[in-house]
Amino acid sequence: MTDTIQTLEMQVHRLKEENRRIKRKNDLSRALINAMDFPVVMIDGTGTVLNFNRRAADRFNLREEQGETVRIWEKLTASACSQWEKEIVKSIKENDSVKFQYDEGQRLIEVIICPYFDREGRIRYFTVLEKDITENATALENINIFNEQHHLTKEQMVEASKLINLGTLVSGISHEISNPNSFILTNAPLLAKIWSELEAPLTEHLYANDIHSKGFGPSEIKTMVPSLLHGIEEGARRIDRIVKSLKTFSRPEKADGFESVCLNRILKTSLVYLNKEISRSTRHFSTRLEDSLPKIAGVPQRIEQVLVNLILNSCQALTSFDQEIDISTRSDEDLVCFHIQDKGCGIESGHLAHIYEPFFSTKAGDKGTGLGLSITSKIVKEHNGTIDIQSTPGEGTSVTVKFPQMKGEVID
Ligand SMILES: Nc1ncnc2c1ncn2[C@@H]1O[C@H](COP(=O)(O)OP(=O)(O)O)[C@@H](O)[C@H]1O
Ligand SMILES: [Mg+2]
Repeated sequence: MTDTIQTLEMQVHRLKEENRRIKRKNDLSRALINAMDFPVVMIDGTGTVLNFNRRAADRFNLREEQGETVRIWEKLTASACSQWEKEIVKSIKENDSVKFQYDEGQRLIEVIICPYFDREGRIRYFTVLEKDITENATALENINIFNEQHHLTKEQMVEASKLINLGTLVSGISHEISNPNSFILTNAPLLAKIWSELEAPLTEHLYANDIHSKGFGPSEIKTMVPSLLHGIEEGARRIDRIVKSLKTFSRPEKADGFESVCLNRILKTSLVYLNKEISRSTRHFSTRLEDSLPKIAGVPQRIEQVLVNLILNSCQALTSFDQEIDISTRSDEDLVCFHIQDKGCGIESGHLAHIYEPFFSTKAGDKGTGLGLSITSKIVKEHNGTIDIQSTPGEGTSVTVKFPQMKGEVID
């Protein structure tokens, strides 16, 4: 009797284990299918929906509690419906996956239908993936139009395609970063407000009970929390600016949201970032900044990008620690000028015509992307400025960027 009970107990234990294993596998499969950034839906031969991921739930308006009572046909437009049906029949006939495309409004959708076979080789159900390929198609179309208009060579086409793909990639990533960052941008100031209201009673409580947190006492907490919250908000604003500046690269639009900018101040910040690079490259680094430099209209983050790119190029051009870099700012009638002069390797005359081209780089390894000057000249243009590069091979390079002064702006 005890033996039977023991055996039963063991079997129950084994079944529970098995159950846990299956549940875990199930959870993992769910996580995997939900991680897919496009709709995935499983249907049987009658179109009954068996399983679907989050994207598909949004796309086809499916809900978990509907169980297996929904047919996919109810969720598709008439033309999509007839095409899905036709392709499923084809998949059954050919015993293989099928892929097709259709227009839905302004979007181009690609659908892949993969049949799932049982042990006898019969189709049990279909996994259907949908991908919005409008961007890819537009990119391809753009390349073709561009090629026709400019009679591009094959190499040039490859460059154009790299650029367009990079643009798509950058705008995709920017979008992914902007969304979560907007939570921080909204929540951090709210948290700061809540803290400012609760600060007095909370710190009183901390003092009264001598409460410490992470080794910080009440008075430290009192001063730290607002500055931590401020730091979070500032960081998120910085991310926001970076993402927006990346977007200017992926979209050929004019920048908006210009503010009054002090070039000297931006230069000083850029030098802080580049401190290591500069001190590694030369022992002769000098700056001559004009006092009371008039302001310019612009986006600080983007102007910073210009200065960083140019200074970095000069640092990378030096071949000896004794070669100089000199930076100066000055005003000239209604212009504000930034000038950088290096005594580095210089630019070969044959290269000079190509330095603004995206991906043109003479630097080995991961030192150069060839994007620095193309982004720089784009930003300078956006700010209604000009850039001029003079260079003598073996002697050095001199770059002058001029921005229009901001009208009616008080000198800093
Ligand atoms: N100050 C400079 N001195 C010498 N060559 C330069 C300088 N600035 C730019 N160049 C040349 O222009 C090319 C393109 O520059 P850039 O667009 O910044 O790309 P990257 O620096 O990634 O190579 C460089 O590879 C280099 O050949
Ligand atoms: Mg560069």
